[in-house]
Amino acid sequence: MTTTSTRVSTADIREMKKRGDKIVMMTAYDYPTARLVDEAGVDMILVGDTLGMVVLGYDSTLPVTMDDMIHHTRAAVRGSQHALVVGDMPFMSYQTGWQDAMRNAARFIQETNCGAVKLEGGIRSAETVQKLVEAGIPVMGHVGLTPQSVNQIGGWKVQGKTPAAAVQLMHDAQALEQAGAFAVVLELVPAALAALLTERITIPTIGIGAGAGCDGQVQVFHDLLGMYDKFTPKHAGRYANIGEQISDAVAAYTTDVRAGKFPTSKQSFKMDPAALAELSPRQETNINRRHALGLDA
Ligand code: KIV
Repeated sequence: MTTTSTRVSTADIREMKKRGDKIVMMTAYDYPTARLVDEAGVDMILVGDTLGMVVLGYDSTLPVTMDDMIHHTRAAVRGSQHALVVGDMPFMSYQTGWQDAMRNAARFIQETNCGAVKLEGGIRSAETVQKLVEAGIPVMGHVGLTPQSVNQIGGWKVQGKTPAAAVQLMHDAQALEQAGAFAVVLELVPAALAALLTERITIPTIGIGAGAGCDGQVQVFHDLLGMYDKFTPKHAGRYANIGEQISDAVAAYTTDVRAGKFPTSKQSFKMDPAALAELSPRQETNINRRHALGLDA
């Protein structure tokens, strides 16, 4: 049996950089969202561990587990047909060594059918990236602000601002390129540095808070659409206020139910008046009697 996939591949993503086509990536964490995002034409869907914050209500990405990620990535894969789905490896699913990383990345591929995984870190993660790629698992890197190290970094800060930090960031991205990563996320990196880095490596850079000089952009669905108001990063675009619309719609529904205005006959189901008439108290007694005698067949 031969199967043909119409999904974007990691090779397609690399080709896009060569052609100079901008790459569009967006997060999605469930079936309906993945469907909408896919139909809108993004190239890649990231089932990010931002899941922990924007969907599960944690203060950081750190509590997210492999089981959480598998559950949500499966839904996003079911909801999409075109985009390359990338599963984000959660905290401590790969930092403990490449063997653990291999086991957990294999879970993503086998249990969710996603096309690639993403993990954080440059030089420190390069050996792991290389082992996964050698095993046939496409990997997207992630440098700059790496949210799983937020306690080590001391907050959500722009990275690579000093010459030494900028050189370190370059080396981190180059280590991922050499290890075989097919692309790298640059998070919270000064725009000029991200543009320079984009010129110096052959794999696509996908920016978030890294300026317009990257090969592509990734945004968190809930930030872009105004569905997460606990904290809005400066780099988040705002293309709609869906959160407000949802709130207004649910408030209107609540008012209507309390006022007896919902449901109307439009949302109700009809019954044959003759059948209804049989439910008058006298008829009902007859029905019960016939039923008790087994005569209603
Ligand atoms: O988890 C996530 O959504 C991410 C993006 C912020 C790149 O890693």
